[in-house]
Amino acid sequence: MMEDGIPFEEVLSELEAFKSRDLSYKRILSSMCTDPHPIARIAHKLFLETNLGDPGLFPGAKAMEDEAISMIADLLGDSSATGYITTGGTESNIQAIRAFRNASKNERGNIIVPHSAHFSFDKIGDLLSLEVRKARLDSSLRVDPAEVEGLIDDKTIGLVGIAGTTEYGKIDRIEDLARIALEHDLFLHVDAAFGGFVIPFLDSHPPFDLSVEGVSSITIDPHKMGMSTIPAGGLLFKDERLLDSLSTPTPYLTSKRQFSLTGTRSGAATASTYAVMKYLGFGGFKRIVDRCISMTRNIMNVAASFGIKTPVAPDMNVLTLEIENLQEVIKALEQSGWKVSVTREGFMRLVIMPHLTEPIIDEFLYDLKDATGN
Ligand SMILES: Cc1ncc(COP(=O)(O)O)c(C=O)c1O
Repeated sequence: MMEDGIPFEEVLSELEAFKSRDLSYKRILSSMCTDPHPIARIAHKLFLETNLGDPGLFPGAKAMEDEAISMIADLLGDSSATGYITTGGTESNIQAIRAFRNASKNERGNIIVPHSAHFSFDKIGDLLSLEVRKARLDSSLRVDPAEVEGLIDDKTIGLVGIAGTTEYGKIDRIEDLARIALEHDLFLHVDAAFGGFVIPFLDSHPPFDLSVEGVSSITIDPHKMGMSTIPAGGLLFKDERLLDSLSTPTPYLTSKRQFSLTGTRSGAATASTYAVMKYLGFGGFKRIVDRCISMTRNIMNVAASFGIKTPVAPDMNVLTLEIENLQEVIKALEQSGWKVSVTREGFMRLVIMPHLTEPIIDEFLYDLKDATGN
């Protein structure tokens, strides 16, 4: 740091220079985040200085968080579920498994996750000294329930199912996993970080949420398809005792105990979560999801018309394409400003988020056709 500061305007222009190096979302087809909704930006600014880690000082922000959780609980099939707004899917997953560990008889045991699970579960294994057993997927890239059952032993704490996998957007058979969890007296966490704000708005979908008997907790991220600002995640427990198992005494704060992983936590992203849900309502979210699904189908159909196959049928707005000379094609697309990603199996992965529009998709398809020489 310099001894003397520099003028306000100069600081701002330095910030603008940094920002100008960032990409705009316009041609990004690789991210599960998106441009926040305009009302999310305003809400975020309004609550910038609030600290939900010391809620007695910010009772309004706390009441808003409780209402946001209650709206999410309602959306995810159990209006009496409890939880809090986290910093994202990673914190929600950590806290869910930590609660299972705290509430379980097995102190140092294992959890069973699908092979498709997000890498946050590897962090969890490390943080909580748990073995993370990965169950194989079936040919539809959903976890195979028989594989999960076969990995259970007397040290198992809980199971995880994914509702919207990161790479392929697939929805595991949560009802089958719940049946296994109940039979073996295990907790079951559903990671719907991406799918939580998609699946409820699809025209039809399999049961995946807290309405399924045997599901103990669920992750849902407002900062992904919830169109909120970063960092906003959601964690909900069906049974309040699981949330209680995360309780830490906080002697010198305005509240007696804290459940969150972070101490100081901004109310800003919570405000944006609340504002978007209130403003859009179910109908508004449905229109956004419908548009993303329709753009996904359009890419799939047009790509097929020039010979590009979809290796895995999409369950939602995550699409994979089988492309020869993938790295060269990606290089050509990048020259036109497109950002796409690649799955571990070597397929092009596209996430069709709300910031994309039909004309942008048409431009992408034109460039894809050109890059693949079709
Ligand atoms: C299914 C799933 N779970 C968890 C996460 C982690 O979320 P975050 O990056 O918000 O911590 C992701 C991120 O893409 C995800 O797709």
